[in-house]
Amino acid sequence: MFDSLPVLPPDSILGLAAACRADPNPDKVDLTLGVYMDETGLCPVFDSVQKAQRELVSQEKTKVYMPPTGDAAYLSGIRTLVLGAELEDHLGNRVSAVQTPGGCGAVRLGAEVLHAAASETTVWVSDPTWPVHIPLMGSVGLQFRTYRYYSPELQGLDFDAMLADLEQASPGDVVLLHGCCHNPSGADLSAVQWQQLGSLLAERRLLPMVDFAYQGMGSGLDEDAGGLRSVLASVPEMIIAVSSSKNIGLYRERAGAVIFIGGDDRAAEAMASQAVAAARRVYSMPPAHGALLAGRVLSSPELRQVWSLELEQVCGRINGLRANFRDALVTATGRDFDFIVRENGMFSFLGLSVEQAGRLRQEQSVYMLDSSRINIAGLNGRNISRVVEAVVSVL
Ligand SMILES: Cc1ncc(COP(=O)(O)O)c(C=O)c1O
Repeated sequence: MFDSLPVLPPDSILGLAAACRADPNPDKVDLTLGVYMDETGLCPVFDSVQKAQRELVSQEKTKVYMPPTGDAAYLSGIRTLVLGAELEDHLGNRVSAVQTPGGCGAVRLGAEVLHAAASETTVWVSDPTWPVHIPLMGSVGLQFRTYRYYSPELQGLDFDAMLADLEQASPGDVVLLHGCCHNPSGADLSAVQWQQLGSLLAERRLLPMVDFAYQGMGSGLDEDAGGLRSVLASVPEMIIAVSSSKNIGLYRERAGAVIFIGGDDRAAEAMASQAVAAARRVYSMPPAHGALLAGRVLSSPELRQVWSLELEQVCGRINGLRANFRDALVTATGRDFDFIVRENGMFSFLGLSVEQAGRLRQEQSVYMLDSSRINIAGLNGRNISRVVEAVVSVL
């Protein structure tokens, strides 16, 4: 049966990370993958998570399946983290949530619910967007169109073009938004732009689906949630795909949640029930370990405080690296690299061509995506000058 089954090439991002691992150059630099790395180049376990893990392991009595909707403490912690206590309270039972295997699982279950509600709907995605969005949501059967977003000429968001394109959307279409720390560009909407977008979504009766994978890694936990919260002041419905991979550092544990906001309590219940049924068709119950850890971290005042401080440090380090990298590039080239400090989170486009990104890999063992998207958190005190020299060599 499988004799002529084609062997597929590796995923573009994972393939480059694998090429970097195989590179024997001891000075190689991996700026490909979207994982946070500390000053030593390690993707660390948060101390708060370690502590929760020790408690969990010593107290855990069963490995029985999780409930289909997931761990109640985790879901409650995530809802409040994302919506804020006040808005959560205001929305009441119009909010439901289902635990998922990571943010990918959340995006997928959100897409399943969209498809169940309106199989012909069009999902508008930013140009560019995270390359996994379309395969992840498209395999459910949804259609896509793109709206202009990042402009290489402006070295940032082209908000007018974004609005102009979304004016073309039909009522009932879905707009996929990055809640903060846009992947791949790092270019986010300002608070005022989020409000303007909220008005447009309401006027044109478009449904926002927010991919929220980096809360707390741009400007802070509440600051990063400000955009989606402000949109919720204008629109009655929303789907939010949450990942605990980055901000709680649970990547391999696959912890995430999809939050549904319905026009009324029944709609919120229906959306969650559809998500649970979709999960049952694919993987049944969500994984336990990561959500149980995050649930403990979010619900214990002591662990929660340790975690918030740790996350603030992560965010501060990324922003510090942005400033250092900008300064070093300006000193080396005399050109303007201010866009690096205007952007949020781990990603930035360096504005290099595919050919230049290829040369950086081949000649300098500095690995970035063909689009020249780099993971800022892959920089550190030991490699930053080498990366700057390498970039200058191909400019
Ligand atoms: C924009 C975006 N959404 C969602 C995810 C999903 O994250 P995970 O499934 O690892 O939790 C990622 C991970 O890189 C991402 O960058």
